[in-house]
Amino acid sequence: MVDVILGLQWGDEGKGKIVDYFANNYDVIARFQGGPNAGHTLYVDGKKIVLHQIPSGIFHEDKTNLIGSGVVLDAITLKKECDDVAAMGVDYKKNLYISERTHLILPTHRAIDKASELSKGNEKIGSTLKGIGPAYMDKTGRNGLRVGNLLDKTFTTDYIKLRLKHQKILESLNFHEDISSWEEEFFEALDFLRQFKIVNGEYFINEKIQQGQRILAEGAQGSMLDVDFGTFPYVTSSNTISAGVCTGLGIAPQKIKEVFGVTKAYCTRVGSGPFPTELHDETGELIRKTGNEFGSTTGRPRRCGWIDLIALQFACMVNGVTQIIMTKADVLDGLKELNVCNSYKINGKIENYVPFQMNKVHIEPVYKNIDGWNTDITQMHMYDELTLQMKNYIDYINNFIKVPVKYISNGPGREQIIVA
Ligand code: GDP
Ligand code: IMO
Ligand code: MG
Repeated sequence: MVDVILGLQWGDEGKGKIVDYFANNYDVIARFQGGPNAGHTLYVDGKKIVLHQIPSGIFHEDKTNLIGSGVVLDAITLKKECDDVAAMGVDYKKNLYISERTHLILPTHRAIDKASELSKGNEKIGSTLKGIGPAYMDKTGRNGLRVGNLLDKTFTTDYIKLRLKHQKILESLNFHEDISSWEEEFFEALDFLRQFKIVNGEYFINEKIQQGQRILAEGAQGSMLDVDFGTFPYVTSSNTISAGVCTGLGIAPQKIKEVFGVTKAYCTRVGSGPFPTELHDETGELIRKTGNEFGSTTGRPRRCGWIDLIALQFACMVNGVTQIIMTKADVLDGLKELNVCNSYKINGKIENYVPFQMNKVHIEPVYKNIDGWNTDITQMHMYDELTLQMKNYIDYINNFIKVPVKYISNGPGREQIIVA
């Protein structure tokens, strides 16, 4: 059986913490899409670690962790991350597997990402500049190099051929930075990568399913950043929704059982693009400060706003979410009043759907005002301890979305989670 944990907003919902929390119930934890644009924060024995490439199950001894075919892999990031987790006592050589079909991010992909963003000026995506878009472009353009190719005798010549293509793109974008030091680091990291357990990811995972092992698929980014269903073009370049589990791991759809959708009790977005419930006032500032809303990958301040139930409902629909996990509820502890967006006003009309081009229409969020709980919830462990106001907030969301909020995360720590 396969369960999925994925983000329902614009990323950074707290997926890393939640995967780490649930990992005990599974045998295999697998990333199915995205790459080092992800930053998944975990607290292990009180120590903070941010994972970009390695699945968030790595701190559980005897769990298999797989970087699946749908991921794009930056060998340099992986190498650094392996050093970090090894310093915390993790035997990654034993527990980490990589699919041979996983596409490689090359130094020139990162350069193209940067050049492309520069050329867009004010219309830039706000990419993490990790080379994600260009790497996926080479995948769909059928040019990319994959982890399995590392074992080919022709790897270096194939690399040079692709690099020459990239060079032309970079010249056309007027990008002339010297990337030779990135390349040096890259080749060192490839030698490191060659020592890994590189597997045929599809047979690997399906054999485990057949043996009755339990699989947890770990999403990166969020549903509103999905290349097809997000706020295009202000999205990432992969399918972040549950369908991505099938294409990214080679798993059949009927194998998927639970889809755990993670949402913050409010909303954030990092990078450009539409965000109807964004707050530009002191409440937004307070949420950013209390929630420490700064990007785990880039350190950029995250834009903050109220929870958006229209977007959340849409995300639950396209993912088939079976249970909602609400994180960072504690960040709202100090607020006397909360707003919940329950419709959009578009051209003076009340609408209940996510429009085709969110960035091209003016959306005025319509709010339901709800009393805040105004209580410190960080030390609570039981649902019954929560105040009536907080239960009302959760009930309102349950009734609106019609998918139950089953878990409430009330702090970044491993044990800070309340079962509803
Ligand atoms: P991810 O990308 O979805 O894994 O999320 P990030 O790690 O980028 O960002 C989530 C941030 O919120 C991290 O700093 C977490 O440590 C933190 N976090 C997760 N859950 C909670 C929570 O319930 N309360 C608080 N205060 N922080 C949380
Ligand atoms: P996790 O897994 C939040 C955003 C970027 C940018 C857009 C495209 O930690 O939730 P890309 O580098 O993918 O080309 O950037 O997507 N973005 C994320 N925002 N969390 C993430 O990952 C993100 N990964 C990409 O900020 O707006
Ligand atoms: Mg993150």
